[in-house]
Amino acid sequence: MNMRSSARTPSSARDSSLPPKPPENSEPPELSDSGASDSGASNSGTPSADSRPEESSVARANTARVYDAWLGGSENLPVDRALAAEIAERAPWVPLGVKANRAFLERAVEFLARVGVDQFLDIGTGLPTARNVHQVAQDILPDVRVVYVDNDPDVVSQAQEILAGQGKVTAILGDARDPRAVLERAAQDGGLDLSRPVALLFIAVLHFLSDDDDPAGILNSFRERLAPGSFLVVSHVTPVTGANAPAMRQAVRMYQERAVPFIPRNRKVVGRLFGDWELIPPGLVEIDQWRPVTKRRAEARVPALGAVARLVR
Ligand SMILES: C[S@@+](CC[C@H](N)C(=O)[O-])C[C@H]1O[C@@H](n2cnc3c(N)ncnc32)[C@H](O)[C@@H]1O
Repeated sequence: MNMRSSARTPSSARDSSLPPKPPENSEPPELSDSGASDSGASNSGTPSADSRPEESSVARANTARVYDAWLGGSENLPVDRALAAEIAERAPWVPLGVKANRAFLERAVEFLARVGVDQFLDIGTGLPTARNVHQVAQDILPDVRVVYVDNDPDVVSQAQEILAGQGKVTAILGDARDPRAVLERAAQDGGLDLSRPVALLFIAVLHFLSDDDDPAGILNSFRERLAPGSFLVVSHVTPVTGANAPAMRQAVRMYQERAVPFIPRNRKVVGRLFGDWELIPPGLVEIDQWRPVTKRRAEARVPALGAVARLVR
């Protein structure tokens, strides 16, 4: 469904707890490797998918649709575009970061499809629009199988509408914190063959898991259930210093007020998430530096790290 043409007309609503205007609002953030704590923020516990407040109502902006608006997608509503524009004005590096993250996803998926991986399991998908995993992979391997997983039921049902008739592509409801259930459903409903290599994607999602959720344990649990030759792709928000630090703190607070953990983690901690997964060159880097297509740096440094790793036994 194209949300722009939707008959639904949500009442206007906006989140009052937006990032504050940074002192020099076009300054890119400086990355910090020395967060005050390892994780850079405290935990507020993780709510169940059902307890995430009001995200499902069209009267309020939805994170996945706001994300889609920044990416120039068509699966968003006026209320989402209003919030996207407001955040972009106050913290221009946020939409730049979202675009850089999608560009990282495209380069990583293209790399994996070119080395012959023909099954993708993308966890924390959001809306699969604006050139997502299946479009990138299908350009190289038309018969590729892609399973999208999200724990937001509204996002999944919208994704299922978007994906109808787009090849071997499925969207399923699942929670990253339950690897066994996600894999069972991905095999059963999505047709993944777990005896063969799978590319497991956690793009811009692990920072929504608290330390109590044990993201490293989750990645290891997936690793134990996947075939040798599988790959892991991660991008993860990292703390910033300098002019944009207040905006990042405000973003953390904004999520916490909605009972959603948002945990920027420093390089050391993100590195540890990979456990026994074997990083492939260039290792864990700022996302625009992962196998860039041009030597020129992106217009802004974004506060996110990314890597691709391989399962070797
Ligand atoms: C910022 S979006 C990232 C979208 C996409 N991966 C990308 O990079 O373009 C994060 C998505 O993760 C989902 N999510 C958050 N926690 C999750 C969990 N525990 N399990 C599955 N999905 C989750 C949210 O519902 C949201 O749609």
